[in-house]
Amino acid sequence: MAIDRFGRNIHYLRISLTDHCNLRCIYCMPEDMTFRPNSELMQDDEILLFTRLFASLGFDKIRLTGGEPTVRAHVVDIVRGIASTPGIRSVSMTTNGMLLSRLAGPLAEAGLQRVNVSIDTLNPHKFKRLTRWGKFEDVWSGIQAAEEAGLTPIKLNAVVVKGYNEEDVVDLARLTLEHPWQMRFIEMMPFAEATDIQTQQVVTAAQIKERIEAAIGPLEVANNGRLDGEARLFRIPGAQGDVGFISSVTMPFCASCTRARLTADGVLRMCLLREKEIDLLSPLRAGASLDDLRQLILEAVWFKPWGHGLAEGAIPLNRAMNQIGG
Ligand code: 5AD
Ligand code: SF4
Repeated sequence: MAIDRFGRNIHYLRISLTDHCNLRCIYCMPEDMTFRPNSELMQDDEILLFTRLFASLGFDKIRLTGGEPTVRAHVVDIVRGIASTPGIRSVSMTTNGMLLSRLAGPLAEAGLQRVNVSIDTLNPHKFKRLTRWGKFEDVWSGIQAAEEAGLTPIKLNAVVVKGYNEEDVVDLARLTLEHPWQMRFIEMMPFAEATDIQTQQVVTAAQIKERIEAAIGPLEVANNGRLDGEARLFRIPGAQGDVGFISSVTMPFCASCTRARLTADGVLRMCLLREKEIDLLSPLRAGASLDDLRQLILEAVWFKPWGHGLAEGAIPLNRAMNQIGG
């Protein structure tokens, strides 16, 4: 088992398959974003080797992220390889859903269990404004395809941005009346080259909840008040699904954090919001033994940070969201 100095059992690895993306969401990256060349990214066999290595240290839960994981070549084969790694019990994916109509079936067949799909509004015009390149209909049919393929329970993510979609949270929350989905609202976080949008157009979880309750009425506490991952869950009375709030900025969840992140270029990052990183890919390519790599991982885990510095203005500068994986 990989334990940190605060006694947290770190067993959940988020692997970013690529920093590339087929969208350009305004809260994530500039429209003229440049990406890493493929040679700098982990190759398929390197991803599977790292998966086996982490599994041998007790990691049992993997989430694939990006950029956009579905634009990675051979994504279905990568999922199959990860899902069949001894010790790995759960494989899920965070995706923008654009390609799910085509890929949900094959991914499920390869062993993917669940997806989280980003959907910030139900209004196609606003959707385009937020994602720059996205088509609402593509994502919507992607969500249907995921449900049909059994990638359930479906979780939906919305980043809420003042002046863009703060009013849309009510319609998004109402989706849970008819669908057994978890609709989660995420506080926007600032990253490298933080834009004015990221620092000045944040809507807090409390404000989002207030707006939903003003329109629909009081929400009930769900999940016995326990966190589901990073989300605090509520329910519209009588609804089929839950409404969740991810308040990374105003209410961090460090005590229950069991995760580590492996970036697409093979660097281990123990906190989304701290800059410290441990390179694993360069040592692997330089001939490090599996035992050397295990030692690097265990040491990184031991020193996993507690608490981010956003409140004091400490914004992680070295990577943007698509370069970490969310
Ligand atoms: N703050 C919070 N969440 C963000 N995401 C992307 N950029 C940000 C940001 N600045 C979210 C996406 C997706 C997940 C991968 O991260 O909407 O749900
Ligand atoms: Fe792509 Fe996700 Fe970033 Fe949007 S938030 S640009 S979908 S990586």
